[in-house]
Amino acid sequence: MSSLSFVDDMADIQRLVAQCHDQAVRRGSVLEIMQPQTGEKFLEVGCGGGFYAYEVARCVGPTGRMCAIDYSADQIATAERNCVDMEWVECRVGEASELPYENDTFDTVYGIQVFEYIEQLDAALREVRRVLRPGGRCFILSTDWRTAVWHSHHEKRMQRILSAWETHSSTLDLPALLGVKLRNVGLVPLRQTPMSFLNRSYHRNSFSYWAARVIRSFVEGKHEIGSEEAEAWLNEFELLEQQQAYFFCLTSVLTEAIKNVR
Ligand SMILES: C[S@@+](CC[C@H](N)C(=O)[O-])C[C@H]1O[C@@H](n2cnc3c(N)ncnc32)[C@H](O)[C@@H]1O
Repeated sequence: MSSLSFVDDMADIQRLVAQCHDQAVRRGSVLEIMQPQTGEKFLEVGCGGGFYAYEVARCVGPTGRMCAIDYSADQIATAERNCVDMEWVECRVGEASELPYENDTFDTVYGIQVFEYIEQLDAALREVRRVLRPGGRCFILSTDWRTAVWHSHHEKRMQRILSAWETHSSTLDLPALLGVKLRNVGLVPLRQTPMSFLNRSYHRNSFSYWAARVIRSFVEGKHEIGSEEAEAWLNEFELLEQQQAYFFCLTSVLTEAIKNVR
């Protein structure tokens, strides 16, 4: 299991991250690439609070099927609440490396910011291939946090915090590794699309405002970072905002692959 927790307080912050304006725009971009069609069957792995599942379910409609799994019961409870009006949505607690579905079931399987946290990554990718129908596609959005450019007057402190944060995911360099890993399980990579968040101000609608809170809570006690240092790191962003000097940029990669018809 990844050392980043997705339950209790962290589940609450994760939901706030998912609901900010940047993430709403990101969901639109991902849906534009995935192109869910009426009547299709989709599976989301690691659905969190179900914000993507909700949008995809509206596209596939009642003649389609939207399945969403997550190993956190907290997250599944929220996903169920979000999608309660659509009976073609099925949310269940489940583990990515043991998907509770038949072979060749889905037109599309996708995972957004989840595969980098899965310890049994190769097993999870084999499961994606197994439950996809021949000709079906998978989409994996993942982030290598070493792409982060986060302005600070305290460069060394910023580096210490980001180094501690890098340990939150079990496969930091997933965007670079996925091509080979997908081929190894019998999926054919098609294209990779970079997607960036760029925040020039620090407010509740921006991704980095919430990411900073997740990071502050994660890094405290790691790499000899105490609560004072973590708090001072977080507080600097308000100051930079007042000086109109706030800057954050992070690039994620959406990887698409297909299960070839034999
Ligand atoms: C960063 S959150 C992303 C949630 C959602 N995909 C989104 O973008 O809003 C990662 C999610 O993956 C789930 N997760 C992590 N490892 C998992 C695993 N091995 N099996 C199932 N779910 C997992 C976590 O519980 C969490 O809800």
